[in-house]
Amino acid sequence: MRVAAIIPAAGVGVRMQSQIPKPYLKLAGKPILAHTLEVFEAVKEVKEVTVVAHPDDLEYCREEVIAPQGFKKVLRLVPGGKERQDSVYHALKALQQEDDLDIILVHDGVRPFITPDQIRRVIKAARSHGGAILGLPAQDTLKRVNPQGKVIHTLDRKDIWQIQTPQGFQADLLWRAFVEAYSRNFYGTDEASLLEEMGQPVAVIPGDPWNLKITTPDDLELAEALLPWLRSRKT
Ligand code: C5P
Repeated sequence: MRVAAIIPAAGVGVRMQSQIPKPYLKLAGKPILAHTLEVFEAVKEVKEVTVVAHPDDLEYCREEVIAPQGFKKVLRLVPGGKERQDSVYHALKALQQEDDLDIILVHDGVRPFITPDQIRRVIKAARSHGGAILGLPAQDTLKRVNPQGKVIHTLDRKDIWQIQTPQGFQADLLWRAFVEAYSRNFYGTDEASLLEEMGQPVAVIPGDPWNLKITTPDDLELAEALLPWLRSRKT
């Protein structure tokens, strides 16, 4: 079985209020993206990794993240696009010539606390179901709110899940979902939504609350504080 991973890290990160793009900010002295790549490098089932970086940061990414850490599985570095979906599509096109890929995983470059065990569970579920994603049942009460900050209504949280990455798919399905989405000008915030648009079922498997997406300065501070404890429990 051949498994490839795509790591989109080409966002501009306005919410981080920093000159340095999010994936290159340091966590315990190392770029966030390097932490993420380390985990994929350690999972035997993952044969290769494609990193997507902002077109202005390709050299920086190569010199500051990929080369110093000596990642052997990172075979490609491709320029990102306007939306996350465009960035992932660029990577998919770069993988197109590889006709022996079974499963493609997509994982946010800014989720460094993913564990090998979760990656393996996504691969396994994607093989059985075609598409599989990590999620957590919503814990808080969820409301739809208008732009003026007034509640419109309350959602029934019992069937609402918060979705994380990695998301895993049989390669041919993912490819078809992207082609179909672009043919209809559909944009989603994750890959699973493109399969959903085709009427293709996607399995949700339990995620981990510590699989944080580092989005704001507070997230980075929290990640820094959590890192020692998370390392001690990593599987
Ligand atoms: O957009 P969001 O915050 O959900 O970003 C999730 C991941 O997608 C990040 O790692 C970010 O760098 C990446 N991204 C990308 N290309 C974009 C936008 C986001 O690779 N155009």
